[in-house]
Amino acid sequence: VAKAYPKVYLEDCLSRRLIFFTGKGGVGKSSLAFSTAVAAARSGRHVRVITWNPFDTVAKPLRLESLGVEWLQLDPLSCFKEYVLLKVKFERVYNMVFDHPVLHAFIRAAPGLSESVLAGKIWNLYDNHPSDLLIVDLPSSGHALSFFQSPIGVHKMFRVGFVHEETRNICEMFLSPETRLDLVALPEEMPIVEAHELKKKLSTIGEFSWGYLHLNQCLPDLPLPSSSTGVSEEVAQVLSRHEKRQAIERDAFEEAKSLELPSLKIPKLPTESLVATIHEMADILGKA
Ligand SMILES: Nc1ncnc2c1ncn2[C@@H]1O[C@H](COP(=O)(O)OP(=O)(O)OP(=O)(O)O)[C@@H](O)[C@H]1O
Ligand SMILES: [Mg+2]
Repeated sequence: VAKAYPKVYLEDCLSRRLIFFTGKGGVGKSSLAFSTAVAAARSGRHVRVITWNPFDTVAKPLRLESLGVEWLQLDPLSCFKEYVLLKVKFERVYNMVFDHPVLHAFIRAAPGLSESVLAGKIWNLYDNHPSDLLIVDLPSSGHALSFFQSPIGVHKMFRVGFVHEETRNICEMFLSPETRLDLVALPEEMPIVEAHELKKKLSTIGEFSWGYLHLNQCLPDLPLPSSSTGVSEEVAQVLSRHEKRQAIERDAFEEAKSLELPSLKIPKLPTESLVATIHEMADILGKA
């Protein structure tokens, strides 16, 4: 049975409380997370973007605060501290028991622990700010998989008791119809295959509400001559490169159909500044 998707991207975004973006490394996850946030904030929604490795090193000097969205950069260690303090209430106890380099190393290295505390922090924000839109810029595919797998796995492992209760909230948030998972890929075979694999793997761990497949950095529509007869050597070379790229994109669009998601094509934009690119992407998404 074909699912009825809302036709308008922004309308769909505004109907959610939580949107996750993931995909292969470097395809534009952070750009799409931030530009979606900007588009939703322009409609008057209070939006928080949650990241733990945004634009890596370039973000800070580029003043993303000027975008008009709240931006929270999480790190597992401080989320863990916040969580424990919520439970034990006394900072002195925390410092005595947990403020130890060996334990810090453990928190960073223990499989699934940092993902679970990050998910717990997101649940906290989700629970405390029910009218906000939370947009999570997830790390690339493999990490995103363990981010979802860890709390769901922990929840299944502990059948009763405290941990079971704590992770149930997170699982409910992940699988809520007000939560959406978007995939980002370049219009090339490998990123689309990777997005498809991720979708298949995630579908085995839970019934997520799937959103859109963003095909980012597509060839812009250029007013190019249709034939290379009578043009200079340089122009002919540009045309030939453009045609090769078009063929790659056509195959990629075919491949993308296998994901069975509504897809959005985002053109490759001029990149004078990160902030300008995000505003332009928000313009495009606002009309998609
Ligand atoms: N449509 C676009 N047009 C032009 N440049 C873009 C576009 N989308 C992304 N970029 C640029 O490509 C680079 C990578 O984008 P971004 O950082 O959003 O990717 P990412 O998937 O978040 O990467 P990572 O896996 O490292 O977190 C950035 O410099 C960004 O400005
Ligand atoms: Mg990123």
